[in-house]
Amino acid sequence: DLGDYPHYMLKEIFEQPQTIENALRGRLDSEEATAVIGGLNLTAQQLRTIDRVVLTACGTSWHAGLVGEYLLEEFARLPTEVEYASELRYRNPPMSDRTLVFAITQSGETADTLAAMRECKRKGHPTLAICNVVGSTIGREADGGMYLRAGPEIGVASTKAFTSQVTVLTLLALYLGRMRHLSYPAGKRIIKQLRDMPSKIEEALKCNDRVAEIAAKYAKYDNYLYLGRLYNFPVALEGALKLKEISYIHAEGYPAAEMKHGPIALVDEQTPSVFIVPKCGIQPKVISNMEEVKARKGPVIAIACEGDAEVARIADDVIYVPDVEEYLQPLVCAIPLQLLSYHVALLRGCNVDRPRNLAKSVTVE
Ligand code: M6R
Repeated sequence: DLGDYPHYMLKEIFEQPQTIENALRGRLDSEEATAVIGGLNLTAQQLRTIDRVVLTACGTSWHAGLVGEYLLEEFARLPTEVEYASELRYRNPPMSDRTLVFAITQSGETADTLAAMRECKRKGHPTLAICNVVGSTIGREADGGMYLRAGPEIGVASTKAFTSQVTVLTLLALYLGRMRHLSYPAGKRIIKQLRDMPSKIEEALKCNDRVAEIAAKYAKYDNYLYLGRLYNFPVALEGALKLKEISYIHAEGYPAAEMKHGPIALVDEQTPSVFIVPKCGIQPKVISNMEEVKARKGPVIAIACEGDAEVARIADDVIYVPDVEEYLQPLVCAIPLQLLSYHVALLRGCNVDRPRNLAKSVTVE
């Protein structure tokens, strides 16, 4: 049911304060400063012996996995790899018996993710799912895992599933972290920030009108770069994928500093760069990457924290998001990028919910 929304994609974007709240419900334990994760079907002792994590997925779910890698390595100090399921299913990487595998998938039916999961299971690895659709093939075949509780996602472009996946991966990193090196006060702090996320997302959604204005100015361009660093690098990849799949515009996501190793050759007056540049430790570096693009006459749209005058001085257009801890920035920064692709697609007359050549779940190889 669309309610008052013209498209499922827009409805699903606006559901995110609620879907993130659902992902968190009953899963935060303030007393122990950890997450409550019921369905992994592994004992604390088994989890404690895990020394490596492999996350496997496709598309947007793979991007969420990349955020998961940064989280798991930072919070739990667990070496983590993110594998394209289509590659992992035919590769034979060395994996010890202490490797824990997660398949990340909205639909639970993606053929490559299912095959990669089966291959890992066959080799005897505990293989868990981070999945939205209850009762899906991956949900059923996994040894355990966590559901997203995002409700049905109808739009082909994945939006709310992405932010729920990132939320669940944050919970997982907190949980595995608290079994290892993460201190009680650090755990407390993460819990407090997570509890605030639904209202931060609500705040981020207020940029919608501004994004629509910006889209009107930029919808004419045929090539885009999306640039961000650390936690916002996967967000750059995700923003570019959203634009590609529903607007049919060529867009590339890169870690901002990689630009000078090639992509900067693409920068000209006709190639806008979308910089994801909220406040963080290396923000000055990203700002200098932004200046390099401006110096080559590239139009710049920036996603920045409310009131960031330095970014506003350089960028042509700024979309503001609330200031949150670095590891939670993917959640707030994804919002304006989802909206940007939505508005640009509309302006270009594209079918937002059912883009050409794409299916909601890719059940063929
Ligand atoms: O259902 P899944 O999460 O396994 O789907 C994976 C990809 O096919 C999916 O994320 C695809 O990239 C989306 N259309 C992206 O918006």
